[in-house]
Amino acid sequence: MRTFKITTLPGDGIGPEVMDVALAVLDLVGSEYDLNFEIKSELAGGASLDQFNEPITESALQSCLESDAVLLGAVGGPKWDNLPQEKKPERGLLKLREVLGLFSNLRPAKIFAPLADASSLKKDVIVGSDVMVVRELTGGIYFGEPRGYDEHEGFNTLRYKKYEVERIAKVAFELARKRNGHVTSVDKANVLDSSQFWRNVVHQVHQDYQDIPLSDMYVDNAAMQLVRDPKQFDVIVTQNLFGDILSDITAMITGSLGMLPSASIGEKHAMYEPVHGSAPEIAGQNKANPIAMICSVAMMLEITLNQPEAAHRLNNAIESVLENGIRTIDIASSDSTIVTTDGMRDEIIHAFQQTDKSILHSRELVRE
Ligand code: IPM
Ligand code: MN
Repeated sequence: MRTFKITTLPGDGIGPEVMDVALAVLDLVGSEYDLNFEIKSELAGGASLDQFNEPITESALQSCLESDAVLLGAVGGPKWDNLPQEKKPERGLLKLREVLGLFSNLRPAKIFAPLADASSLKKDVIVGSDVMVVRELTGGIYFGEPRGYDEHEGFNTLRYKKYEVERIAKVAFELARKRNGHVTSVDKANVLDSSQFWRNVVHQVHQDYQDIPLSDMYVDNAAMQLVRDPKQFDVIVTQNLFGDILSDITAMITGSLGMLPSASIGEKHAMYEPVHGSAPEIAGQNKANPIAMICSVAMMLEITLNQPEAAHRLNNAIESVLENGIRTIDIASSDSTIVTTDGMRDEIIHAFQQTDKSILHSRELVRE
């Protein structure tokens, strides 16, 4: 039996509820695939501030460093909004990215066919779109020094080193190759020096990936093109701040933030988390959509733990539950059956157990 060490950081708001669902799913996967998950739960964000007066502790970071993978729920909430920058719950997340060296953030935004009506965009604009945002996560204006503000001015520094652009560009090209796709590098090279540099380096890296079509796009145009015609995109690679903004746009193309997972990956470590936030207004009410969290578990199984079959089976289970019209409130339409967080968990677990492994094997895996 293989053992994997996982640190869970449930965090704030709906984080703990959806993390409970993740744990139930891991239990199931562990028993079906003879895997042993050694799970340690630590505090992060507001939960950690309340207890330790810091958004993430050294010992929580240490546990993450010693794990095969980290699962995060969500951090933040109005309770902690007025704290100084260095005490905000979000700082815990930034610290994790930095300490674990998670330079590449993968945010897939794929339409679940049964949910095509949930998007605010027209169905024919979005159906068939499948965008992967590759966001640089440990550099750029999020981390550049100097930074600061007083009553007269506020400033940040946007700086990229060559190796930082090279390694994220490689991630994007490799992914595009796997997806038989192409890369759009998004920048603001008409104005920013750091962006002209970004563009130059991406094109140098492209020399080694001549089989992958590459185009450049300014970020303002990319924001517009994403809502105009998302199907023109496959892999988007971009700097930290642009990726933050564009990935929210791609998320809304799919109709629900409650569906989308993300992976943050470095040389040695990886962290998986839903794209949605802590949704404090529905916390503790058993209403949250746990699908983004379950998809995050699937990404972890596929990418870090090398269990593609379990991941496929989970994704299939989610799809079949959605096909049967079962929905949490955030994705409900007039003819759907509304379930709670726990209800959705049970439905997905049931669907997972129903899938015949051998059928799945011939239907899904052989296609690759
Ligand atoms: C995200 C979030 C974070 C970010 C915040 C919470 C620090 O918006 O993961 O997209 O800006 O990176
Ligand atoms: Mn964001």
